Amino acid sequence: MANYAIRVYRNRDYNAVRMLFAEGMMEHFPATCAYLLKLPRIQFVLFISFITLILISRSYLLSLVSLAIAFTAGRRLLLSEFHQYVDECQREDLLDIEESYMASNNSCFWVAESNGRVVGMVGVQSAQRSSEVMELRRLSVAKDWRHNGIARTLCLKVIDFASQRGYKVVKLETSMIQIAAHKLYETLGFLKTDTRIFPSLLGRFANFYVMTYEYMIKD
Ligand SMILES: CC(C)(COP(=O)(O)OP(=O)(O)OC[C@H]1O[C@@H](n2cnc3c(N)ncnc32)[C@H](O)[C@@H]1OP(=O)(O)O)[C@@H](O)C(=O)NCCC(=O)NCCS
Repeated sequence: MANYAIRVYRNRDYNAVRMLFAEGMMEHFPATCAYLLKLPRIQFVLFISFITLILISRSYLLSLVSLAIAFTAGRRLLLSEFHQYVDECQREDLLDIEESYMASNNSCFWVAESNGRVVGMVGVQSAQRSSEVMELRRLSVAKDWRHNGIARTLCLKVIDFASQRGYKVVKLETSMIQIAAHKLYETLGFLKTDTRIFPSLLGRFANFYVMTYEYMIKD
């Protein structure tokens, strides 16, 4: 049995929480690359580009090198989108965690700690000042601490917190590549209530979607 304890956030957790969030997000980068490369429309664009390059240059080598450069550029573009997303989050609620989560009675942030190290985290806030819906945010567990039930315990903490304050729904957003998270939410009783395309050029081109899950709190 893994030895950890769940407790509310303290100021000294600040750097560890921000780093854990960034690591949890960035680890989805390889899966996103793989997803994009499997898309027929991207394979089609690459194929047409390759044929065009051969016709123009009449050189397989030059065409392959050009394609490799295009791959590298595409990878960099995607990586910068990931970094941009992490930066945005770290400039929003994760910039002042105390103010965003600990200042109100209707929000909170917890960490899972083991031997003084932050190994898991989750936050909860009222969704757009709603008195019925709470939003679960920033769930992440350190890679070497996965499969110990930490995320499940953190989610149950959020549900219990919302329930005690009379909220009816716990809602969250996740993306199509966060497969482990989908399984976790579904085993806890969350239901997928919405699916929509990620609002960016790349999101629309790649048909990359984000989902809303909701947990209905029983009276
Ligand atoms: C998703 C995440 C939080 C799960 O953390 P965890 O502590 O390993 O999860 P738990 O041990 O509490 O798992 C609870 C249940 O979730 C499901 N689950 C968790 N990880 C899974 C995986 N890799 N594959 C399939 N199901 C998984 C299982 O049903 C599991 O129950 P079981 O252990 O009885 O099979 C973790 O993988 C993570 O931090 N990922 C990166 C950040 C992220 O994607 N966060 C989600 C934001 S929406």
